[in-house]
Amino acid sequence: MTTKTSVIIKPKVKVQPYIGDILISKRELKSRIKELANRIKKDYHDKNPLVIGILKGAGLFLSDLVREVGIDLQIDFMMVSSYAASTKTSGIVRITKDLDEDIEGRHVLIVEDIIDSGLTLSYLKRNLKCRNPASLEICSLLKKKSRQKIPTEAKYLGFEIQDIYVVGYGLDYKQRFRNLKNIRILNNPPKNNGF
Ligand code: IMP
Ligand code: MG
Repeated sequence: MTTKTSVIIKPKVKVQPYIGDILISKRELKSRIKELANRIKKDYHDKNPLVIGILKGAGLFLSDLVREVGIDLQIDFMMVSSYAASTKTSGIVRITKDLDEDIEGRHVLIVEDIIDSGLTLSYLKRNLKCRNPASLEICSLLKKKSRQKIPTEAKYLGFEIQDIYVVGYGLDYKQRFRNLKNIRILNNPPKNNGF
């Protein structure tokens, strides 16, 4: 008996005209993540680190990164908000989901999507340091050049980019475009189109 093969229609993200050029391609992301993962693997192979992903933006990056790192580790998530649904920083950082794990004595690696003003990560670092981890480092996929209000050092950094708003690979504009495969530039999005 032959089985009828069903036709799989791949849903595509509708790319709007204000979604601009590819800044970082899928292939570049993959190869840079591999490099970062190798360094992390070397530094943490005997440390059983706790990797903390900052939701929602770092979700996709974390998921690819930890699979490349491939050592014994745990994963936890935090959700913070520093942006009030726009492309401008509000300067207000709020923890909307805290950790499930106790981090005292643990080697903690924060995984973030992008460092812009540095407000989010400097607040998080201060907050997590009070919980007495054995060590605390940052791995960020992106960092905007010369945007830091508070200098924020990421020991592991994917790419330094210009001061432009980007979407894709986890990064959103008003909760959209996180599932684009590449990182793309956002050009003058409409202000009121029901987002
Ligand atoms: P910071 O506190 O100003 O460093 O902002 C960090 C957060 O702002 C990131 O975790 C992102 O969620 C968001 N963000 C900053 N720049 C961009 C961008 O270009 N695209 C998407 N999100 C961004
Ligand atoms: Mg974020």
